[in-house]
Amino acid sequence: MAQIGHPMLAQMTHDEGARDNFIFSLKRHVSSTVGPGNRNLYFGKVLPALEKKYGRPPKNRHEVRKAMEREPYYQSWSALMRVGQEMMWDSVGESVDRQVDGLIAKYKKRRNKLGTVRTDPDFKVPRYLTAVDHHGMPGSYHTETREDDVRAGAVYDRGAFLFQIGGAGGVLMDARGQAMAAYLRENHPDFKPKRILDLGCSVGMSTLVFCDAYPDAEIHAIDPGAPLIRYAHARAEHLNKKIHFSQQNAEFTDFEDESFDLVMSHVMVHETSGTAIRNIVRETHRLLKSGGMMAHLEVPVRYKDLDLCEQAMRDWQTYYNEEPFWGGACTLDLCAVSEEFGFHDAEDGYQQQPRERFGPSSGFTQKANSSGGWWYVMSAVK
Ligand SMILES: C[S@@+](CC[C@H](N)C(=O)[O-])C[C@H]1O[C@@H](n2cnc3c(N)ncnc32)[C@H](O)[C@@H]1O
Repeated sequence: MAQIGHPMLAQMTHDEGARDNFIFSLKRHVSSTVGPGNRNLYFGKVLPALEKKYGRPPKNRHEVRKAMEREPYYQSWSALMRVGQEMMWDSVGESVDRQVDGLIAKYKKRRNKLGTVRTDPDFKVPRYLTAVDHHGMPGSYHTETREDDVRAGAVYDRGAFLFQIGGAGGVLMDARGQAMAAYLRENHPDFKPKRILDLGCSVGMSTLVFCDAYPDAEIHAIDPGAPLIRYAHARAEHLNKKIHFSQQNAEFTDFEDESFDLVMSHVMVHETSGTAIRNIVRETHRLLKSGGMMAHLEVPVRYKDLDLCEQAMRDWQTYYNEEPFWGGACTLDLCAVSEEFGFHDAEDGYQQQPRERFGPSSGFTQKANSSGGWWYVMSAVK
């Protein structure tokens, strides 16, 4: 499985490609082969020890995680996971730095040719986004060091392929959009949105899918990261997709009341704060026409569907991968939140992405935990 090149994708030299291949293999080995050993450790040693100590099974994932963190096997796995992540961003970042000026020039050349792009020099990126370097990506999504910077977008586009251990991402890294479109097609075949908004679009990987899924629709996409929005725009222009990108916070947008039929997001919820997600649901209700739909796709990790060992393993993201809202998102009942803000017919479940784009199995035992093309999707109607 390879990532399809497009004019905005930073090119790799032979040596950079070899280094990325090594990192890709290391990350896959650590997650698929070393990671599952933690289950043997837990059931063979840690669980019996906890039961002996307390005279009862562990109460929650935190008890399990703390006990696992004392084990050298877990510590080694955790260190390898973190090192793989840091190597990945270093490798991709160095490659992008070589060519970032050229990418900015390409952005400027195609600006506002088919779709549009709007950034706001006075925009205040929320603190819950500036406080961490998400998933270890230095500078996260918002950092700018030069005029018309696109670096964060270029790094994210290349890194996301390695990040997701390749296969699960799709050749244009659009697996999440493909899964969302399949969900809507299969479960709401008569729903034909005319105006669509994608929240937390990053570089527009998922957004692009909707140009083909609903060719008559007008498509908008927002994200607080200016370098992402610029890169997303240039990427879409070069791929001949008409999308209107703007730098905005999904909590408080400048769109008019009741102006969209579909407001959606792809893996945004786990990267936004618990307070923000409630604001976003409220704002989405304002933006939707009556009968319009809100839909969120997320990492396929609902803690309620997993045993405590899996929950504790997945919580590694919260504590060691700079994903502070991961655990909160994986325990959040989005259907209940949507009903709180006036939505009805809320539904959720797991959706398999279409086409032969499934990645290698993560080695974990439960379907909800598989990286083989499954995603969590929820929707609700205004
Ligand atoms: C993992 S990335 C999303 C990737 C993208 N949707 C995709 O499928 O390729 C999460 C994105 O959510 C954005 N985000 C977080 N909080 C947000 C908010 N309050 N409003 C809009 N976007 C937000 C981040 O800036 C980031 O780009």
